Amino acid sequence: MKIVSARFAGSSTRTDRKPAPLLPEFAFIGRSNVGKSSLINMLTGQRKLAMTSSTPGKTKLVNHFLINDSWYLVDLPGYGYAKLSQKGREELRQIVRDYIFHSQEMQLLFVLIDARHDIGAADWDFLCDLGENGIPFSIIFTKCDKLGPVALERQIERDQAQLLERWEELPPCFLSSAETGRGRDEILAYIESILSAT
Ligand code: GTP
Ligand code: MG
Repeated sequence: MKIVSARFAGSSTRTDRKPAPLLPEFAFIGRSNVGKSSLINMLTGQRKLAMTSSTPGKTKLVNHFLINDSWYLVDLPGYGYAKLSQKGREELRQIVRDYIFHSQEMQLLFVLIDARHDIGAADWDFLCDLGENGIPFSIIFTKCDKLGPVALERQIERDQAQLLERWEELPPCFLSSAETGRGRDEILAYIESILSAT
């Protein structure tokens, strides 16, 4: 799919306040600093569309980006950021949960996992919640440029084996890098296939 236009459409903290018009949405979630905002920039080809930071906890609102005037990419705050106060973490958690569990427009949630690491406790909590609530999701392994090909393959296999210990089958999985553009075509083609089926 070709991205002809991408623009920031608005920030919200509640699904009933999301920007108009209501259109299909594809959202990104994962640990703080995993690369959600960077991935949105990579997919749209606009380096400064979503704000990124090397300090975790950058994205604090639900941010809608209107793509080709017909659907949205949605950037969410990350989970598992230990340095936030208990209250701050709970606020972000509520914002994310409200979006994920009540957003009628969300077609699919991409759960991002850092390709260098095992799946962490915060990821499991989140993934299990999704499974129990029947939320459709895919997995994107991010920052693939940070490992050599052999180490990358080994770590992805480890992560997938861990997933298969709990589930009978894997959701669709993608490998990405915001640095090299890896995964861009595959992720956009997958989004397009879902859009054309709705
Ligand atoms: P929060 O909004 O804080 O939850 O973080 P986020 O998941 O949106 O992460 P963000 O996109 O802000 O990226 C965090 C850091 O990781 C930044 O310093 C990025 O430059 C870096 N980063 C993100 N994706 C990649 C990638 O694919 N490769 C490399 N090498 N660095 C990346
Ligand atoms: Mg972010």
